[in-house]
Amino acid sequence: MSTDILLIPGPIVISKRVQDALGTPSVAHTCPEFVAKFSDTLKNTRRLFKAGDSAQPVVLAGSGTLGWDITASNLICPEEKALVLSTGFFSDSFADCLTAYGAEVRKLNAPLGDVVPLDEVRSALKKDAYKLITITHVDTSTAVLSDVKSICEVVKEISPETLIVVDAVCSAGCETLDFDAWGIDYALTASQKALGAPPGLSISMLSQRATRVALQKEEQHTFFTSLKKWIPIMQNYEKRQASYFATPAVQLVNALKESTGEILEYGLDKRIEKHREVSEWFKSHLTGAMGLKLVSANDAVSAHGLTAVYVKDPPAAISALKARGIVIAGGIHKDIKGEYIRIGHMGESACNDSLKHLQKCIDALKQAAL
Ligand SMILES: Cc1ncc(COP(=O)(O)O)c(C=O)c1O
Repeated sequence: MSTDILLIPGPIVISKRVQDALGTPSVAHTCPEFVAKFSDTLKNTRRLFKAGDSAQPVVLAGSGTLGWDITASNLICPEEKALVLSTGFFSDSFADCLTAYGAEVRKLNAPLGDVVPLDEVRSALKKDAYKLITITHVDTSTAVLSDVKSICEVVKEISPETLIVVDAVCSAGCETLDFDAWGIDYALTASQKALGAPPGLSISMLSQRATRVALQKEEQHTFFTSLKKWIPIMQNYEKRQASYFATPAVQLVNALKESTGEILEYGLDKRIEKHREVSEWFKSHLTGAMGLKLVSANDAVSAHGLTAVYVKDPPAAISALKARGIVIAGGIHKDIKGEYIRIGHMGESACNDSLKHLQKCIDALKQAAL
């Protein structure tokens, strides 16, 4: 087994408690013990998104991408309009998914390393009626953080009927995200980033209004992602009643219960503040003494769960760190693919000081003389 420190922007290092939860013996997905764990997991999810009782959590076997399919197949119909705010590769892929299901997509592209100016969002919403808008809270290809709260305010002011969809795959658990207070309709994430579980679960939250849209949708061009099928199942599980549409990923749900439990025990707000502190400390080493340039344009648009930074020779940097026992990732934004590296600092690696993962990473980056 590799003893390398995994510092890519997800999957991330998982705690011993989470790893133990994965190794539990098989049980029936309908047995009372598992049903109780699933119920607790759904309740924890609600708290992580800061969503109240009227919101509907959904936890399915699948990855973050499944949340895009859920959006495209339940919240919009073919030929309806979607406005996509693009801050990089993942925002673009979300647009591709919506297009694949027949939505009419208009994309507003941010300048590389920056966000879409609010005025552009405002004028697009004034010009056309959109069924939904998508915001990628953190685009993991650029480490750009979007101001979801301000965008929500603009949408509520100009086009209150437009559903607000937030891709929180790289933000849930490490960035401030206030589902109810900001008026988000659908937020989607995945298990393998700041939530601190292994890959394999799609985790999302629907507002009352989005739940209504999904339940009233007449044409169903989907089966597995049908929220008409899943919402009653989730409601039953949360009430501790076994229910079946398709078999849940039992061990992964066990792991997510523990990882979300750890975050809530640590304190969600404290955890988010810790990610901010660690990120600022980490970035200041790179941009200070090491004289490197970040992909994100300024502090206000810099994510706190990862860093994307330009280096002279990314493959050499990745190999040099690997030789020192640290695994980082290369760039994936089409315009600058071969010019930068990405380093994740989420979950255990950011919050468990005793591991010293990021100090080790800084030391290795300095030795590698980028
Ligand atoms: C912002 C964002 N959205 C969506 C995805 C897709 O998630 P997955 O790879 O789990 O399908 C990712 C993956 O890294 C991501 O970073």
